[in-house]
Amino acid sequence: MANLIVLGAQWGDEGKGKIVDLFSDRFDIVVRYQGGHNAGHTVWVGEQKYVLKLIPSGILRPGKLAVIGNGVVVDPKALMEEIATLEKLGIGVHSQLRISNRAHVILPFHRMVERISEDAPGKAIGTTARGIGPAYEDKIGRRGIRMADLVDDTLFRELYTQLRKDKRTIAAAFGVKQLDEDVLEEYLGYAAKLRAMVCDTASLLNHAMKAGQRILLEGAQGTMLDVDHGTYPYVTSSNAASGGAATGTGIPPTRIGGIIGVSKAYITRVGAGPFPSEDHGEKGELIRKGGNEYGSVTGRPRRCGWFDVPLLKYTAMVNGFDSLVVTKLDVLDTLEEIPVCVAYKIGGKTVESMPASQGDLAKVEPVFEMLPGWRTSTFGIDRLEALPDQARRYLRFLEERSEVEVGSVSTGPERNQTLIVPGSKLAGLLG
Ligand code: GDP
Ligand code: IMO
Ligand code: MG
Repeated sequence: MANLIVLGAQWGDEGKGKIVDLFSDRFDIVVRYQGGHNAGHTVWVGEQKYVLKLIPSGILRPGKLAVIGNGVVVDPKALMEEIATLEKLGIGVHSQLRISNRAHVILPFHRMVERISEDAPGKAIGTTARGIGPAYEDKIGRRGIRMADLVDDTLFRELYTQLRKDKRTIAAAFGVKQLDEDVLEEYLGYAAKLRAMVCDTASLLNHAMKAGQRILLEGAQGTMLDVDHGTYPYVTSSNAASGGAATGTGIPPTRIGGIIGVSKAYITRVGAGPFPSEDHGEKGELIRKGGNEYGSVTGRPRRCGWFDVPLLKYTAMVNGFDSLVVTKLDVLDTLEEIPVCVAYKIGGKTVESMPASQGDLAKVEPVFEMLPGWRTSTFGIDRLEALPDQARRYLRFLEERSEVEVGSVSTGPERNQTLIVPGSKLAGLLG
């Protein structure tokens, strides 16, 4: 049975957590390959809501292993808090979680450095302020601290002291008044608690595959936030796209058997950056309210807009989607007409590929087609035949225009509020 990647096809918050949790009962291991606690993956199990940040959504299935891969950046304090929250709710985190010894560590001075760049006039990305970017900068700059170093007391003392000194010098040069606190002893305490879960996860995953186990790879953020393929510089600092799944886990690309994109039936974005199909009007507000489009990490209102075909075609191309899961269809239930962005124009000319330059993206004029709404509740529908005709027509339109199969549709936040299209490639891949 194939190992699969599930990842965001838009700008994040597509409903990956719900889908990964749903699919994870067919897998032995769920692994996160990039990002950090900038992610907020919401999963409802009955009346209980979980918001997973660093820990893979598979943790909610008893007996499954959840792995934080080497491509993730780990804030030990945030991880300890997440573990405590889950354990209070009866999840066996200590027995189910493994953390890569090659994953890089986020420390308070990373947040201090991030404030400098976010506060610079005209430079704000609208980040989650979790220190994600600066931690990846240190990784690429070859001066980062990894989990293997954190759990080695002597080495961590040395590396932390030096790196903190360097960061404070930078901060002082920028006139930053609020410097980071010395957390050395506090973090040595976290290291002691995390040590038993830290290991060589690339070996663990490859041994598991040899033993016939099946792995689900969980993306964070979304393809348009990928540092290479997204709307740079308004992106996160990691490879959220499928290419990042192999480097971020140590699972060879040849062992990945399927790539599943998750997309809302519309689209949202948090933070700054271009957004061609954004709706600043009443309908956009309706989606925000109806879809409860407020950040699960920062609580910020999400910007809302319409399903964007050129964007989906682009993300399908760079990821190699086998199938698409369309979520939050129910949020469109009340609309009389639903706009879909079917093309981009710049200066009256159709744009054939996703513009790379910020300037071009800012100039994009979206071309909309209006599709009839269905004006009846689809909430909780779990069979394709039970969807109203116009909803099926809407989904067919997305599928045909984007040239990606719609293999599954989500009609509510809970596990059972989902349908898998019978005979779809996705149904085959899930087995
Ligand atoms: P993620 O970051 O991709 O995991 O997505 P988030 O958890 O940040 O945001 C998705 C939100 O939509 C969560 O509050 C989910 O509970 C909710 N959700 C997921 N699928 C559906 C759906 O089909 N319908 C509705 N109404 N809500 C959904
Ligand atoms: P999930 O996994 C939506 C956005 C931030 C900001 C940009 C850079 O829940 O889909 P960062 O803190 O990563 O340096 O911020 O990326 N962003 C997300 N937007 N969903 C996410 O995660 C996001 N993680 C980061 O809002 O625009
Ligand atoms: Mg989210």
